[in-house]
Amino acid sequence: MLQIDQLTKKFGPNIAVDSATISVPEPAMIGIIGRSGAGKSTLLRMINRLSDPSSGRIVFDGRDITTLSGADKRRWQSECAMIFQQFNLVPRMDVVSNVLHGTLNRRSTLATMFNLFPSEDIHRAIDILDRLGIAAHGAKRAEALSGGQQQRVAIARALMQDPHIILADEPIASLDPMNAQVVMQSLRSIHEEDGRTVIANLHTLDTARRYCDRVIGMRDGRIVFDGRPDQLTTGAARDIYGADDSFNEAYTSTEIQTLDRVSA
Ligand SMILES: Nc1ncnc2c1ncn2[C@@H]1O[C@H](COP(=O)(O)OP(=O)(O)O)[C@@H](O)[C@H]1O
Ligand SMILES: [Mg+2]
Repeated sequence: MLQIDQLTKKFGPNIAVDSATISVPEPAMIGIIGRSGAGKSTLLRMINRLSDPSSGRIVFDGRDITTLSGADKRRWQSECAMIFQQFNLVPRMDVVSNVLHGTLNRRSTLATMFNLFPSEDIHRAIDILDRLGIAAHGAKRAEALSGGQQQRVAIARALMQDPHIILADEPIASLDPMNAQVVMQSLRSIHEEDGRTVIANLHTLDTARRYCDRVIGMRDGRIVFDGRPDQLTTGAARDIYGADDSFNEAYTSTEIQTLDRVSA
């Protein structure tokens, strides 16, 4: 399905991603972990073609994604929707319209200018919001919602594109533990129920362990771990985070204990 071969990104003399090779033969829920600067965001941005690789290849269902340009590249970008830490919604616009913006790439400029959305799209947007438990907020401005609700609106907007892949760059980094749990569960159910691949950059190991079937650890641009959560030993975590404070931070995170208390 998705095959990433020797993908590399250089910024001047710095190598942000160094020969990353990842094979995703069937829909999966993958967590990418690693300390700040490890190359996680750069890797996701290359998969989405927001950033051009220096070398290497991305292939999806036999199609070479690396060489796409123009309309083909935009089509790919809607097939692998991206979600960000800061939600990237239009704050003063209502929730349903924010979700409908997920269909912009297939609408004419004129229809877009006048906010003319087909009624079937509006119904679909409301159904998606309903599924994510936030349909009641559909008419509110996005800025009136909590962070966790806003992130679910961003997920709804992504789903509007009916993507094969959802790329989430630190989707819960700005959220409190309770909202973080709801957002991760939403992503998990999108993977399980729809068979979409979710690849999420996560800053704590606990979250990756809890929600993902596969964990990829990056350090200094390289993939230093790729396996099941139960294979992620303390030693492997130390390889990913190094043996200093950032290891302790990632490893002894209280996040999960808080989550367990909340859900108990
Ligand atoms: N646009 C850019 N220009 C120059 N260097 C960059 C750019 N984006 C990222 N980098 C560098 O690439 C490395 C990886 O960054 P990034 O992918 O953001 O890591 P992470 O998401 O794991 O924190 C870092 O050293 C960062 O400084
Ligand atoms: Mg990042």
